[in-house]
Amino acid sequence: MEQTILTIDKLSKRYGKIKALDKLTLSVEKGNIFGILGPNGSGKTTTLGIILSILNQDEGRYSWFGKQPSKHDRLDIGAIVETPVFYPYLTAVQNLKIYADIRHVPYNDIERVLEIVELLQRKNSRFNTYSLGMKQRLAIAAALLGNPKVLILDEPTNGLDPQGIAEIRNLIIKIANEGITIILASHLLDEVQKICTHVAVLEKGKNIFTGKVEDVLNETSTVEVKSDDMEKLVRVLEGLSEVISFRKEGNKMITHLQEGISSSNLNELLFSKGISVSHLAQQQKSLEKHFLELLGKS
Ligand SMILES: Nc1ncnc2c1ncn2[C@@H]1O[C@H](COP(=O)(O)OP(=O)(O)OP(=O)(O)O)[C@@H](O)[C@H]1O
Ligand SMILES: [Mg+2]
Repeated sequence: MEQTILTIDKLSKRYGKIKALDKLTLSVEKGNIFGILGPNGSGKTTTLGIILSILNQDEGRYSWFGKQPSKHDRLDIGAIVETPVFYPYLTAVQNLKIYADIRHVPYNDIERVLEIVELLQRKNSRFNTYSLGMKQRLAIAAALLGNPKVLILDEPTNGLDPQGIAEIRNLIIKIANEGITIILASHLLDEVQKICTHVAVLEKGKNIFTGKVEDVLNETSTVEVKSDDMEKLVRVLEGLSEVISFRKEGNKMITHLQEGISSSNLNELLFSKGISVSHLAQQQKSLEKHFLELLGKS
């Protein structure tokens, strides 16, 4: 049975003239890896600040676990929103003891969280000897102290190199597989596509799309085709059941293919009907294109 973890209902927030959030509505179910995707300044961090009661909203409501927000919820919510502060000359374990004290979590939980983020071997190394990726993993370990039901991350891979990015992404998936619901803010479409199950897209504080990530990806694909014999190409395209529709654009044909049919499938089909293709290109899916345009503006 689905269980609602977080409901956000028409949240609005202004900073003077800037409308940071404009009637934002969404809900997160148990087990989701929920991405809040949007360009810089679209209101992602503001949203996380409000649901963590670091900031006050002007209007609207939110509820955690189907109840009015209360102080007790904080034990069930692990978060890294502001860059966590660690003492450079203390070890990972010493730093986590400080966080454990703050969260009233017994010290025996420290080994558990260090194991999850794969820092057990380095638990007695000083923080200032850690790589950037290790520092970020330690921050995630701190947020996991007390075994929260939800983990909230704001731009978890910012500043990391490709290997560090891959490590953090795999770690997030691993944590989700252990049953923890994840809410993640990111300005990277690619990141959300790779790890999230659900997404809400923000533009200037408004939610312009919410849904399953697979529904974004499973749109029918659009492929451009050119051939020296365009008349024959049209005749062949008309006879192919795999082609939902096509239209001429300039000197090429734009085809919409059935779900599961790729551009190379189309190439093979055309070849089998005696057409050699001089140009074949997959167009970006419309939703994806829209996101990229949106993200590119910032
Ligand atoms: N303390 C503040 N004072 C004034 N304006 C603010 C403040 N915090 C945020 N804003 C503004 O509110 C809007 C939303 O900011 P927010 O930080 O939530 O965006 P974001 O989506 O997290 O962006 P980024 O991708 O850069 O982290 C922006 O226009 C920002 O300039
Ligand atoms: Mg932000």
